[in-house]
Amino acid sequence: MNTFPDDFIWGTATSSYQIEGGHDKDGKGPSIWDAFCTIPGKIYKGETGNVACDHYHRFREDIQLMKQMGVKAYRFSISWARILPTGKGQVNESGIQFYSDVIDELLKADIEPWITLYHWDLPLALQLEDDGWLGKPIIDYFAAYAKICFERFGDRCKNWITLNESWVVAILGYGQGVFAPGRVSNSEPYLAAHHLILAHAKAVHEYKNNFSHHGGQIGMTNNCDWREPLTDSEDDKAAAERALQFFVSWFADPIYKGDYPEVMKERLGERLPRFSKEEKVMIKGTSDFFGLNHYTTMLAAENHGIAKEQNVYGNGGISEDQNVDLSLDPSWKTTLMNWAVVPWGCTKLLHWIASRYDNPDIIITENGCAYPDELTNGQVNDRERLTFYKTYLQACQKAIDEGVKLKGYFAWSFMDNFEWASGYEKRFGLHYVDFETLKRTPKSSAKWFAKAIRSSSADV
Ligand code: GAL
Repeated sequence: MNTFPDDFIWGTATSSYQIEGGHDKDGKGPSIWDAFCTIPGKIYKGETGNVACDHYHRFREDIQLMKQMGVKAYRFSISWARILPTGKGQVNESGIQFYSDVIDELLKADIEPWITLYHWDLPLALQLEDDGWLGKPIIDYFAAYAKICFERFGDRCKNWITLNESWVVAILGYGQGVFAPGRVSNSEPYLAAHHLILAHAKAVHEYKNNFSHHGGQIGMTNNCDWREPLTDSEDDKAAAERALQFFVSWFADPIYKGDYPEVMKERLGERLPRFSKEEKVMIKGTSDFFGLNHYTTMLAAENHGIAKEQNVYGNGGISEDQNVDLSLDPSWKTTLMNWAVVPWGCTKLLHWIASRYDNPDIIITENGCAYPDELTNGQVNDRERLTFYKTYLQACQKAIDEGVKLKGYFAWSFMDNFEWASGYEKRFGLHYVDFETLKRTPKSSAKWFAKAIRSSSADV
């Protein structure tokens, strides 16, 4: 039986807006997701995260469930507007208390907290008053908010992720308009991304300069699918490479190499903002690990005709900027998101990251799948999810054996939750949540995952 290294980090992940509920409790301010969900037609069935899994009131029970699974780490995000109701200024002490209690409860259960500072729920005031990620002021506001979190939680939390999936914020939030703040543009995504990267770097410097005595680590998490060339032609290979660079190198190159990829500069011209010399120096080297959210694989081909718009979750980015056609191999199985299950794509992507970025420590901060789970006689028999986890973890193991420094893996998600524009329909959880009664039930995949953690192996 193949086993993972002894210090491999086995975890599960969630995010604030998707699970907490308590959207206006104890002084929390509104976020752009609170607002976005009120716009007719944006969210499946008009659902909202107002109550979600009510984790705000049930976190102790949830942490007990994690403990029963034997997870070593839990990745969750802080709702900025719970800490700073208007995004800046006065701290809301009840918000601090909530996360402080979560952290203490985790440590009591022997679970390492991994905090994401920004998982998309920007305080609404910053959107209205300062144009959200389109304005420069957000760089300082984010760093100031991060500092408060380091001050209040850094003695107990040693693992920090600044931003979750800047690609989604930029493309789905400012390009396609399907996520908050719902803007549609072919230039705003590049401006928003620019400020996201600068905000990340400033927060990391804040941590390194003033909190290094905590001895923690900090990095950014990006999402990336694998792009497999459709054919062996040089054109298709170049298209696949280009698609990967528009996807993840957009954010990773500035951090690991000091600037945007050449191919983006060439193709985007004026629409891609430029970093000053000082900014390049400030950004470079600001990630202690490569946080990766990975879900699927698509085939990539040189576009010889009109670029096709991908569906909102199609992860194509702004396709005319890349000139890449994306498609699925019809033999691939897909999940409820219509995402293909291709474990070898995960191995290939890990190698691609290792080779482009000089073999960094990589943490898979999300991987998982949605299926139409049902509770029958008190059980959820989610064999497909179980197979997904098993085969993706085997693909991870293979990459490790081949020299990739993959240090940890967080399953998305600990429990079913508010899946953004898809509402509660798409179940990603290891635990089934009945959204009427809010009762949690471990699915068969959760039991399998617990077994994998116990034996430190995917071959169980
Ligand atoms: C990621 C995101 C999560 C979750 C997941 C499944 O992009 O970080 O919040 O929704 O996808 O779609």
